[in-house]
Amino acid sequence: MSTLSVHCLKPSALHLPSGIPGSPGRQRRHTLPANEFRCLTPEDAAGVFQIERETFISVSSNCPLNLDEVRHFLTLCPELSLGWFVEGRLVAFIIGSLWDEERLTQASLMLHRPGGRAAHLHVLAVHRTFRWQGKGSVLLWRYLHRVGGQPAVRRAVLMCEDPLVPFYQRFGFHPAGPCAIVVGSLTFTEMHCSLRGHAALRRNSDP
Ligand SMILES: CC(C)(COP(=O)(O)OP(=O)(O)OC[C@H]1O[C@@H](n2cnc3c(N)ncnc32)[C@H](O)[C@@H]1OP(=O)(O)O)[C@@H](O)C(=O)NCCC(=O)NCCS
Repeated sequence: MSTLSVHCLKPSALHLPSGIPGSPGRQRRHTLPANEFRCLTPEDAAGVFQIERETFISVSSNCPLNLDEVRHFLTLCPELSLGWFVEGRLVAFIIGSLWDEERLTQASLMLHRPGGRAAHLHVLAVHRTFRWQGKGSVLLWRYLHRVGGQPAVRRAVLMCEDPLVPFYQRFGFHPAGPCAIVVGSLTFTEMHCSLRGHAALRRNSDP
């Protein structure tokens, strides 16, 4: 925008009466960023759990993390989480922790091992009204790029149901076999991703 157009717009915005569209009060509400990516905090736990509940409980009566577990990880290792906010509203998130064994075990569901070299992704979920718009993919690329930038973190691990294996393969994950963790009648494939090669993969495929 030229200097002239900025100069001409300013006075009209300043002289609008309050309470009508375009007035300063109304504009302030619009200063929330259209898209913001940031690590989550314990204060975000309720919003996270609301998406989880809508996503998982209606389908399987199980959530990957209950509310206390969400708070637990967002307190212990917020740097291993990432949220996508659209105009201040949480629409997608990933919650992770560190793990220090080759394969996931039942204990890994609740633990954060600070010396671990693997980012364990406990849950990735997109609010249902925002699915199939590429948001889950963009968030996962960003997350892997961020955690891959932490020198101690060498790889990412997660467990998923079989229909989602091809989705995670797009990001450099490969199946490591059946996961030792079983939740009720649900079984999972364990997926591993080297974060060393991830930067190069991202350069070629990032949307
Ligand atoms: C899986 C999920 C995170 C994907 O996010 P999204 O924003 O909807 O996905 P994107 O638009 O980025 O990508 C679409 C791809 O997701 C995959 N996908 C989404 N939902 C799927 C499902 N129910 N089954 C299989 N693949 C699915 C497909 O590979 C699809 O690719 P396609 O369009 O070529 O078929 C999202 O659908 C979600 O939150 N689902 C419920 C929670 C969940 O299952 N989380 C993962 C396990 S913790």
